[in-house]
Amino acid sequence: MKPDDSIMARLKPGCICMGIKLHRILEAIDSGAASFEEIARLTGIGQGDCGGRRCGQKVEDLLRQRASSKDEDLPA
Ligand code: FES
Repeated sequence: MKPDDSIMARLKPGCICMGIKLHRILEAIDSGAASFEEIARLTGIGQGDCGGRRCGQKVEDLLRQRASSKDEDLPA
């Protein structure tokens, strides 16, 4: 992650309902969380009025991006 991305992640919402910033979700993924449920347990996302519909989609996208970037790191 570039420094600007890190700053933006501290400002961008991760779970709007619970007021949790994106960087908390990214930290959970970096620490090994690999599913919405694990990330929710670590961060508290998904317990708001939308029941995780909005942040759940964001987490799915982030996990997919992370998985594809790991695949690119593998030797051919
Ligand atoms: S955005 Fe996370 S529970 Fe609604």
